[in-house]
Amino acid sequence: MIAVYGATGHTGRLVSAELVDRGEKVILAGRDAAGLEKLAAELGPLTEVRAAGLDDGQALLAAMDGAAVVINCAGPFARSGGPVATAAIAAGAHYLDHAAEPLHSRNLFENFDADARTAKVVLSPGMSLYGAIADLLAATVTEGQGPVDAVSVAYAVNGWRMTSASKNTATHLVSADRLTYVDGTLQLVAREAETAIFDYPAPIGARPVLVNYPAGEVVTIPRRVDTRSVGVFMTAETFQEETVFTSEDIASADRAGSAFTVVVRATSGAGTRIGYVRGNDIYRVGALVSVEAAQALAVGNIRLDGARSAAELFAPADFLQRLQELDCFTDVHLREETV
Ligand SMILES: NC(=O)c1ccc[n+]([C@@H]2O[C@H](COP(=O)([O-])OP(=O)(O)OC[C@H]3O[C@@H](n4cnc5c(N)ncnc54)[C@H](OP(=O)(O)O)[C@@H]3O)[C@@H](O)[C@H]2O)c1
Repeated sequence: MIAVYGATGHTGRLVSAELVDRGEKVILAGRDAAGLEKLAAELGPLTEVRAAGLDDGQALLAAMDGAAVVINCAGPFARSGGPVATAAIAAGAHYLDHAAEPLHSRNLFENFDADARTAKVVLSPGMSLYGAIADLLAATVTEGQGPVDAVSVAYAVNGWRMTSASKNTATHLVSADRLTYVDGTLQLVAREAETAIFDYPAPIGARPVLVNYPAGEVVTIPRRVDTRSVGVFMTAETFQEETVFTSEDIASADRAGSAFTVVVRATSGAGTRIGYVRGNDIYRVGALVSVEAAQALAVGNIRLDGARSAAELFAPADFLQRLQELDCFTDVHLREETV
């Protein structure tokens, strides 16, 4: 059985529906009992409703009872991550989430790892489009490269129509200090409205990008890749589109029109390598990443515990290949030498 916390949201619905389509029993969890009942009526008899607010630890624990894995879809995760991860550990369930919040990721790795190891469960934040894909790509790109000086992750996103929680998360992150990975250490730096130019693979080409874009990859990539620094960039034009911050109330289907490119570039004394994927519908792809990971954990083949990155848990190229089979990507380049 897999529990989905925040099942009534856009991501939670996609995740729950996909799990049911795959024949999984699903606990629909969240704070809105009536909304959860309505969703259960839509998704059918494989689902069970367990309402629990984030302030009620006993109810959260009861909601997760019997689950092999909990997928937390209730953002912002700075608020939900601690209570839901605590309940998952106490219930003996693995914990995954959709966070794109670096401070939350650092919190899980630094403050929840020991308890997860004791309970012999895995915690993995950012098991979604932002987070896991770049983490898996970084491991694939740098395989056999030896120590690298710098890993750059660059996103190019168009047509992003943010949900209410995505907008809340983005609004919070925009004003927060930035977590960076520089000189082999995580460092908190004051936010600066800094831009640069990143040269994306054709046909995108050179584009202005936001520097130090907030992303959990600064926490996860150095766990698997021997690098001195990780930098994350996002096309500036992504947030200049009119509909990005004005689409909380649109129909679910109208969010599917986004297009993404995720590039990882690794530079060492021996040269530069890149890998990249392109695809459509960031919310659908994020949901599928978490469902794939949850099912792999639920069958018990992964003999790890504690807080782990995607690339620590799964064979990176195989996991990306599986996502391609699920039509998550229109284009995949796992490793290329560049000049
Ligand atoms: N990393 C990625 O690639 C990626 C991909 C997709 C989504 N996300 C993140 O995932 C989060 C969810 O996105 P979404 O698209 O599903 O947003 P959404 O449609 O607005 O849904 C948010 C969900 O979270 C629940 N929630 C919010 N605050 C809560 C609280 N204080 N207590 C209990 N439940 C709470 C909501 O419950 P109610 O229905 O009761 O309000 C709802 O179920 C966002 O933070 C987004 O940034 C990340």
